[in-house]
Amino acid sequence: MKPRDRLRIAMQKSGRLTDPAQELLARCGLKFRQSRDKLFCFGEGEPVDLLLVRDDDIPGLIAEGVCDLGIVGRNVLREFQLTNPDTGAGMDELRPLGFGHCRLSIAVPQEDAYDGPAQLQGQRIATSYPGLLGEWLRSHGVDAKVVMLAGSVEIAPRLGTADAICDLVSSGATLVANQLREAVVVVESEAVLAGRRELPLDERGEIAELLLRRLDGVIQVRDSRLILMQAPRDALAAITRLLPGLPIPTLTPVDGAPDQVVLQALCAGSVSWRQLEDMKRAGARDMLVLPVEKMLA
Ligand code: PRP
Ligand code: ZN
Repeated sequence: MKPRDRLRIAMQKSGRLTDPAQELLARCGLKFRQSRDKLFCFGEGEPVDLLLVRDDDIPGLIAEGVCDLGIVGRNVLREFQLTNPDTGAGMDELRPLGFGHCRLSIAVPQEDAYDGPAQLQGQRIATSYPGLLGEWLRSHGVDAKVVMLAGSVEIAPRLGTADAICDLVSSGATLVANQLREAVVVVESEAVLAGRRELPLDERGEIAELLLRRLDGVIQVRDSRLILMQAPRDALAAITRLLPGLPIPTLTPVDGAPDQVVLQALCAGSVSWRQLEDMKRAGARDMLVLPVEKMLA
């Protein structure tokens, strides 16, 4: 294989992770020549290209070195690592990305009660995640038969090919539509940035580090708010205690009003009306809550 000097990121071609993943990369300053329907998107600014593929193929592409990084569900990455222990060992979840939240759960027919793992003893459980399900069964001392299905797992109980299923649940609508009940969560999942544990030692490693730093900035500010207000000095202690996430505020004196300061603070998470009203009662006024676009420490 010819050595590459451009970083290559794999992501889902079309699915739940596609739009938020594209948006996240755009926020990191990456632009790609539009080609949603094609496999390969050329990066215009930074030397970073995109490969649009089936999500299940992403860990393998990283392991083989075809791609350097991937945006993929934690469930897909961990399943790959469990079923490919040799190549999977060098791979890692580099960052959780905060979108695409779902869970891999065991579900049973609605009419069945679920009162613990022992109930699954000797049952047939259909899944596309034999690695993760197998690990859960072993750790709970359950001996069950894992029925591997590539798709449409949820209809297996109705077809009589399984007694229970282990599949992804997001809203829960698929389970309800198939008269199934979520019994127990096997893995909590979300989109993650996956990569090999050792970044490439050439230019690609440097680009990857730059991208990781930008990503950290984006993730950090995504849910952050900058709060600005004027406050009497003697109310500062009380107001600071009310700031969401307890940040250390920056204080600026106010000309002509020695007893007043302008307070500025970066709050983790949103700031509610109630929290603002509490701060106002404590003495704050002229409050502003602003979204944060970029941050570089
Ligand atoms: C997943 C999963 C379920 C469904 C659950 O499939 O296999 O079928 O989503 O979502 P819900 O709880 O909101 O109904 P997905 O659409 O991701 O397709 P895939 O499994 O083929 O990747
Ligand atoms: Zn899939």
